[in-house]
Amino acid sequence: MEIIVKDSAEEMSKSAARVVARALNAKPNAVLGLATGSTPLGLYKELVRLHVEEGLDFSQVTTFNLDEYVGLTRKHPQSYHYFMHENLFKHINIPKENIHIPSGTTDNYEAFCAWYERRIVELGGIDLQIVGIGTDGHIAFNEPTSSLGSRTRIKTLAKQTIDDNARFFDSADEVPIYAITMGVGTILEARKIILLASGLNKADAVAQAIEGPVTSMITASALQLHADTMFIVDKEAAGSLQMAEYYEWIQAKMPDAP
Ligand code: F6R
Repeated sequence: MEIIVKDSAEEMSKSAARVVARALNAKPNAVLGLATGSTPLGLYKELVRLHVEEGLDFSQVTTFNLDEYVGLTRKHPQSYHYFMHENLFKHINIPKENIHIPSGTTDNYEAFCAWYERRIVELGGIDLQIVGIGTDGHIAFNEPTSSLGSRTRIKTLAKQTIDDNARFFDSADEVPIYAITMGVGTILEARKIILLASGLNKADAVAQAIEGPVTSMITASALQLHADTMFIVDKEAAGSLQMAEYYEWIQAKMPDAP
């Protein structure tokens, strides 16, 4: 695992954008796995800047988003379809047909989930997966006790996640209870994974994910089983790491660190 600690959330975002840009320069038709929420907003802003100012090309890129709320239409302002369109897709040159986001309104969730998994495989698998982390240690919406081998499916959100995400809605009562989410097993099949985290409220979850035991109670800890995972976190989110000095020392010795 590579642990990169940045001074600020802005530096975290720029660093992640450099990794994405390198991946696209090396493979213009890369398949990206994308996350929503507050954490990747700076990354998407920087990718848009790289596209507009430096010509970063998305014309051959395919994307798969991690999750979507069940019951929200793609036009709902809190849906992840809407989020992705507003914060990334409408600003870059990605073809509409290359974008995949789980449907929150399908009439057959089981068939949709099976199709989503198949589609990832048909397109060659995910080259680079971006994930955030919940305060309860989740990746995507794989809440505590999700199987570490889980696949795309419907998941009931934990109370803590509903409370955390209430900030995007008028009240906690409006947060959907169910989400459709890639599984931990689905995520672990990506060739490279980047976990982003910023802010003090993520420090404990980040420490457990990186330095704690691999456990379904903190599904992000499953990333320890992946051969090419990078954690890019800001100083606050790194605040509970026991080995922080060691990670900073390694980074200082790496000339091409992102
Ligand atoms: C979103 C997702 C979630 C978030 C996590 C952190 O697509 O998969 O796992 O990454 O809940 O959310 P923020 O970034 O809002 O703190």
